[in-house]
Amino acid sequence: LSPEAAERLEALVRPVPDYPEPGVVFRDITPLLADGDALASVVDELAAWTTADHGTVDLVAGMEARGFILGAALALRLGVGFVPLRKAGKLPPPVESVSYALEYGEATLEVRTGTVPTGARVLVVDDVLATGGTAAAAAALVERCGAEVVAMGFLLEITGLGGRDVLGRHTVEALFQV
Ligand code: PRP
Repeated sequence: LSPEAAERLEALVRPVPDYPEPGVVFRDITPLLADGDALASVVDELAAWTTADHGTVDLVAGMEARGFILGAALALRLGVGFVPLRKAGKLPPPVESVSYALEYGEATLEVRTGTVPTGARVLVVDDVLATGGTAAAAAALVERCGAEVVAMGFLLEITGLGGRDVLGRHTVEALFQV
């Protein structure tokens, strides 16, 4: 992504100070999603990066809720299926679960047992990488299914919260950083 293109995308993400808690800056991607050109360029860019750096993948997995939007669009673009990694209690059993600490609060991600085949090459996608807790849980879930996390793609990375370090051994791509 050129610096100009990254700037255009960043301008469509609204920082909301002290939401949902004091001290947290929420990144509202709603204006970007509502802009057709911006949405297409995000999906095109993530698809191009995936193909160039990692070849083909078997599945895209995205985290509830905003990871569903970008992840499903990207899966369609790559011609593969999409696996929703859902918050606790949304999927009928049997499920695999991983709990994690969030920048604000705690949460659990779940995947329907049997949705991700053993040995599948999976691209994990979400809108924001902050502390990395959500993404680490997503990667753990995929690996618990016996599948491979090929790489992890994000619209934006909030630097200074250690997310990239938490993901350690995984390949991480973010279209821009704040
Ligand atoms: C946000 C965001 C990521 C996660 C990043 O989701 O969409 O999934 O937080 O934070 P982390 O790197 O510190 O884990 P949120 O939990 O607010 O859920 P939502 O998409 O349902 O709003």
